[in-house]
Amino acid sequence: LVASMEEVEQTYIMIKPDGVQRGLVGEIISRFERKGFKLTGLKLFQCPKELAEEHYKDLQSKPFFPKLIDYITSGPVVFCIFANLVNCIYFGKAWEGVGVVASARKLIGATNPLNAEPGTIRGDLAVQTGRNVVHGSDSPDNGKREIGLWFNEGELCAWAAALEPWLV
Ligand code: TYD
Repeated sequence: LVASMEEVEQTYIMIKPDGVQRGLVGEIISRFERKGFKLTGLKLFQCPKELAEEHYKDLQSKPFFPKLIDYITSGPVVFCIFANLVNCIYFGKAWEGVGVVASARKLIGATNPLNAEPGTIRGDLAVQTGRNVVHGSDSPDNGKREIGLWFNEGELCAWAAALEPWLV
């Protein structure tokens, strides 16, 4: 019994070019894994301008928009999807996914790293708003929108953990 991926709340996380170039990919992904989220999609990709503009289209009128697009397209980004659906694999229930979007935002911290609490990704690893190493969806609906933009059909994996222990 595997819940369909559409039923489960999922968040889109992107490690921005500074995070990739500073060697923080493992560190950032590890924080979401250790929290208990489940990795269901993962890619390294040089983002074209049109996709960056579509992704951040709500910010089009902001003065920082052109710089934001230059930053996001300046080098490869790593993006992934996290869900929190451990139990639904066995029980066919989707409610375990609720909250993953908001919880990931807590782990990421405030937009301006100066205001991000120590212990958050931006609070620990970043110093500037325009170089804040990571993106996370701000609502479940935006999570769906962003996953649709960045992933093609068939690239998500609704895997189930093995029932046998890996180490004996
Ligand atoms: P926003 O969606 O407001 O923040 P968040 O990433 O925390 O959801 O803004 C998107 C990105 O735009 C933000 O991560 C960094 C950049 N940005 C600036 O460069 N300057 C700014 O004043 C703001 C608000 C954002």
